[in-house]
Amino acid sequence: MTANKPKVLIAFYSRGGTVEGLAREIAAGATENGAEVRMRRARELVGEEVMKLAPGWIENAARMNADYEAPTVADAEWCDAMVLGAPTRFGAAASELRAYLETLGALWVTRKLMNKVGSAFSSSSVPHGGVETTILSLYPTLAHLGLVIVPTGYGDDVLFSAGTPYGASANSYAAKKLPPTENDLAVARYQGRRIADVTRALAQMRAAAAG
Ligand SMILES: Cc1cc2nc3c(=O)[nH]c(=O)nc-3n(C[C@H](O)[C@H](O)[C@H](O)COP(=O)(O)O)c2cc1C
Repeated sequence: MTANKPKVLIAFYSRGGTVEGLAREIAAGATENGAEVRMRRARELVGEEVMKLAPGWIENAARMNADYEAPTVADAEWCDAMVLGAPTRFGAAASELRAYLETLGALWVTRKLMNKVGSAFSSSSVPHGGVETTILSLYPTLAHLGLVIVPTGYGDDVLFSAGTPYGASANSYAAKKLPPTENDLAVARYQGRRIADVTRALAQMRAAAAG
């Protein structure tokens, strides 16, 4: 962290753009609170023969891959806070994001991520479709890596209308492909602001402990 400017990595996967929308708003919230943000999109694990079965997948992936680099081990080492976003896949996080997390073993074994901030968010098709289990399914990985998990709680009144106390969320309603609502985005922005605040405090603690 340089001069009180926390470094925030937002590593996400998105196929249809809903998680991407939340990711961008988390980035905006963190940035307006003084953070430096890297947004990174995990890449597909399947080839075009599978992607072409879902209309728009190939085009969306091409657009997002032009906008965001793939997350790397170096990104995780660089950051003070790692924010993970994934669509719900049968109640858990998309494997594209999980594949990235499984590249971080060398950082785990050397304790390089200890006491950084971790946070998570998700999107599902329908309410009760598993967005909370998805976010919670990412918590054990954050814990194994030694990150300090920062949830949204009910730290802003908008949490009583949208999102979850674990992290931002949105519902795309399958074929309708709805974008996040204003309230969904407000929760995401709050999450970004909170991450910047907590990361700043924690990074100062880490620096003091390091002497
Ligand atoms: C293989 C697969 C499994 C899914 N499982 C769920 C699910 O368990 N619950 C749900 O509500 N939506 C489920 N969905 C829908 C996505 O979670 C939803 O469309 C999400 O908003 C996509 O985010 P994105 O637009 O960022 O890709 C699934 C989609 C796919 C392709």
